[in-house]
Amino acid sequence: MITAQPDYQQVLESIQEEVRPLLGRGHVADYIPELRKASSERFGMAVYCLDGRTFSTGDADVKFSLQSVTKLFALALAFSREGDNIWKRVGREPSGNPFNSLVQLEHERGIPRNPFINAGALVITDILVSRFVQADVAVLQFMRMLADDPTIDFDMAVAQSEQKTANRNSAIAYFMKNFGNLHNDVSEVIDTYCRQCSITMTCSELAKAGAFLAKHGTVPWTGQEILDPSSAKRLNALMLTCGTYDAAGDFAYRVGLPAKSGVGGGILALLPGEAAIAVWSPGLEANGNSLAGTYALERFTTLTSRSIF
Ligand code: DON
Repeated sequence: MITAQPDYQQVLESIQEEVRPLLGRGHVADYIPELRKASSERFGMAVYCLDGRTFSTGDADVKFSLQSVTKLFALALAFSREGDNIWKRVGREPSGNPFNSLVQLEHERGIPRNPFINAGALVITDILVSRFVQADVAVLQFMRMLADDPTIDFDMAVAQSEQKTANRNSAIAYFMKNFGNLHNDVSEVIDTYCRQCSITMTCSELAKAGAFLAKHGTVPWTGQEILDPSSAKRLNALMLTCGTYDAAGDFAYRVGLPAKSGVGGGILALLPGEAAIAVWSPGLEANGNSLAGTYALERFTTLTSRSIF
C-alpha cells in the first residue's frame, strides 16, 4: 500500500530524542589512533529525497571520517568501469566474520568473500590502482561529483594514522598477493586504501552522494547515469547482505534497508526510489557499526513505515 509522504523532519526530530540514552554508550574506534578523537556523544542524521528535498537533525553538518562507507563508492567506481570482471577476484557472499578477518582467505585461496570486508576492499583498491594513475584521487573526485561539492577531501592526519598502524590490512594484502590476487605493490595499495578511507563528509553531503544508488544508478539532479539500473540493483543487494559485516542479518531484520557502515560511526542507507539516509554517531557496537546510528535507522523505518520489505 502506498502511504502519503511521511513528515521526515518530524521523524528525524523524534529520533534525535529517542537516541539520547544511547549516546556515549558505544565504543569509539581506537585501533586507528586519530579516530579516538571523535566523541560518542555526537549524533547527526540527514535525508536526501530524490525530488531534491532535504531534512536533517543534530550534527548533520559536522564532518566525520567515512572509513568503510567509502568502500561503497570505490566499488561503484570499479563496477562502472570493469563490470562483472571484478567478480573473478572477489565474491558476493556475507562473510559472517569480522570486517578485518584473515581466516577465510586461507581456505578460499585469496578470494575475499565480498567487496566490503577489508580483504575485498583491498582487491577493489588494487583494481582501481591498475586502472587510474592516482586511484585515491579518482575515488575522491568521484565522490566530489556525486556530492556536488568540490571541497570534499581526505583527512591526511587520519590517513597517516591508519598507514602507521595498518599491520593487519598489510598482512591481508600480502596474503592475497601470495595467491596472485593483488597485482600492485602492497604498500601502494595500502596507502591508496588509507587515503580513500580518510575522506570526510557530513551526513547531509553523504546522503546526497549516495542518492544515485537510491535512484537506480542515476544522479537525481543531473540525470547522469553512473550505473545502469541492473548494476545499481546488484550494489543495493550487496549492501543489504554484506554492508554491515557480521551484523548484516540482524541489521536487515531490524532496519530493512540496504546500508553501508564505517568505523567512523557513519552509515549510509537507501530507500530505493525515494531517498538516501545518512546517520553518524561514533560509538560502535561489537561488529563495528554505529550503535545509535543503527537504532536511529531502525526507528526511521518503523516511524515512516518505509523499508524495502
Ligand atoms: O581498514 C580499516 O580497518 C578501516 N580503514 C575501515 C574499517 C571500517 O570502517 C569497518 N567498518 N565498520
